[in-house]
Amino acid sequence: MPGIDTLIGLRKLSLSDYGIAKKRHNFSDNIIYNDLSLGRERFSLIVVNNEDDAVLNPNHFLYTTRVIDSAGILKERDEEYYEGCSCEASCSASNCSCHNVGYSKDGLLQMDELMEVIYECNAACECTLHCGNRVAQKGATKPVQIFRTKSKGWGVKTMSWLPKGTFIGEYTGELHREGDGAGEYLFETKLGESSCTIDAKKCGNFTRFVNHSCEPNLHAASVIWENCVNPYVHICFFTVRDIDAGEELTVDYGPEWWSENIISFPCRCRSSNCSFNAAVRSEILAERENTGEI
Ligand SMILES: C[S@@+](CC[C@H](N)C(=O)[O-])C[C@H]1O[C@@H](n2cnc3c(N)ncnc32)[C@H](O)[C@@H]1O
Ligand SMILES: [Zn+2]
Ligand SMILES: [Zn+2]
Ligand SMILES: [Zn+2]
Repeated sequence: MPGIDTLIGLRKLSLSDYGIAKKRHNFSDNIIYNDLSLGRERFSLIVVNNEDDAVLNPNHFLYTTRVIDSAGILKERDEEYYEGCSCEASCSASNCSCHNVGYSKDGLLQMDELMEVIYECNAACECTLHCGNRVAQKGATKPVQIFRTKSKGWGVKTMSWLPKGTFIGEYTGELHREGDGAGEYLFETKLGESSCTIDAKKCGNFTRFVNHSCEPNLHAASVIWENCVNPYVHICFFTVRDIDAGEELTVDYGPEWWSENIISFPCRCRSSNCSFNAAVRSEILAERENTGEI
């Protein structure tokens, strides 16, 4: 299978491409890059390190706002399509055949009615781009910043106050078949009924820096905006509560991720309900030793 390096070629960029800030911004922020996305986001993706000497090397991954299908998994699918809706101009939950959850008129996900999969309007629909059932497919709009956390490496914080249900960004990376690849930057998703994974180790966007919390403020929702029979299920992050400007954004990686990774480190989310802290980790490792797993 051709890897991401061979297919698109990781361009070696000089650090000046990222507009390294020479002087300190405001009074305290030590800015390392002015825009890690190199113009691919609608906002400048600033990287700040006020903690230590670590420098995020942008050449270690390719910034992409789309999922990359270097293995040709999406292309292999049968070309069978559903019809879209025939709403004029804009769709509403009551009249549109696509609407199954509904965003509010402000484009906020109605979290209380959250369905397993959210169907947005798609290319076959007759509504316009202004349709309220097209949110995640339009990409990230809320400015975030990459910052150095105290104990979890890099993290993501919001630059503005965000109401509950706000779309933050899609988890992008390289698409793999189920079972292909392993590691800390993997997120599971679906292609129709079959499982697949998104690997953001070598390519991804700012969502690859979102850390885990046992009390997260983001929800990873499954969103579809293709009208084919085996659609790719996009993993999209939405806020689960109102979030203040400057707060770190976190998501729940899930028990399977921790089952694989707890051997390397405990969860440092510091929530009172932390399920994978140092004490829990010791118990899990002791049990694995007893059963001969490690
Ligand atoms: C998807 S990456 C998130 C970005 C990462 N912090 C970085 O610097 O690239 C997942 C990694 O972040 C760190 N991490 C994320 N959440 C954590 C948590 N709650 N406790 C400890 N480490 C965490 C771990 O090193 C984990 O393998
Ligand atoms: Zn529509
Ligand atoms: Zn539609
Ligand atoms: Zn935790």
